[in-house]
Amino acid sequence: MQQPIGIFDSGVGGTSIWKEIQKMLPNEDVIYLADSKNAPYGTKPKEEILRLSIKNTELLLEKACKLIVVACNTATTNAIDYLRTTYEVPFVGIEPAIKPAALKTKTKKVGVLATKGTLSSSLFHNTSKLHASGIEVIEREGTGLVDLIESGQVDSTETYLLLQKYIAPMLEAGIDCLVLGCTHYPYLIPQIKKIVPPNLNIIDSGEAVARQTRAVLEQQNLVAISRKSPSEHQFYTNRELEILESFVKGPNIKTDFIVF
Ligand code: SIN
Repeated sequence: MQQPIGIFDSGVGGTSIWKEIQKMLPNEDVIYLADSKNAPYGTKPKEEILRLSIKNTELLLEKACKLIVVACNTATTNAIDYLRTTYEVPFVGIEPAIKPAALKTKTKKVGVLATKGTLSSSLFHNTSKLHASGIEVIEREGTGLVDLIESGQVDSTETYLLLQKYIAPMLEAGIDCLVLGCTHYPYLIPQIKKIVPPNLNIIDSGEAVARQTRAVLEQQNLVAISRKSPSEHQFYTNRELEILESFVKGPNIKTDFIVF
């Protein structure tokens, strides 16, 4: 089926998920919506996150998307149940990777860096309870990190110092796995690696989300047929195009950047 996959995020962070989807599903066309004007979602009340998620979904449905990936932990944990019961199209969400971390940890201590909106959601608490019993989960809000990434400051000293402030207490507590519970944070992995010991596991959900997207497309008979021309990827943003563009580089794909 040649209709596009829709992906939305509060901004540029979901492009970390887009990259995994594009790698695993190279025949698929994609429409990516970056609601950067409203970033961060993580500090907003649940009702506002829900309202923005509905707006993003309806925009992608207007563009005939056949499946929607909610490439934002905060939007998933606060809105995906509502979206699934309201719209017919299948949704794939992204949750902090507590389960793989719980399976991997030897110290039985796992750190989770995520937004306030994610950490306070009932979906996050239920996932922790279900998959991490007997494991100490040390949560930390990554306040300010999304704003820095949205303004293109991935490599700045300010970003490094903030990460150090958030991660150092988790290291002191003895974590051996750090879960990145926000789709923006994989862009900070090079900075995080300067702070943590080399044997610490840094876990994000990008590949798992791409696998789940492929599985849902297959189950619902929605997979794009193979093609000779490169797949088409449209990126919509309501802030500076250049910042979004700097996060999107891909081989043999046709990209288009649009302000909405
Ligand atoms: C945010 O907009 O605050 C972060 C997005 C996320 O939770 O993945």
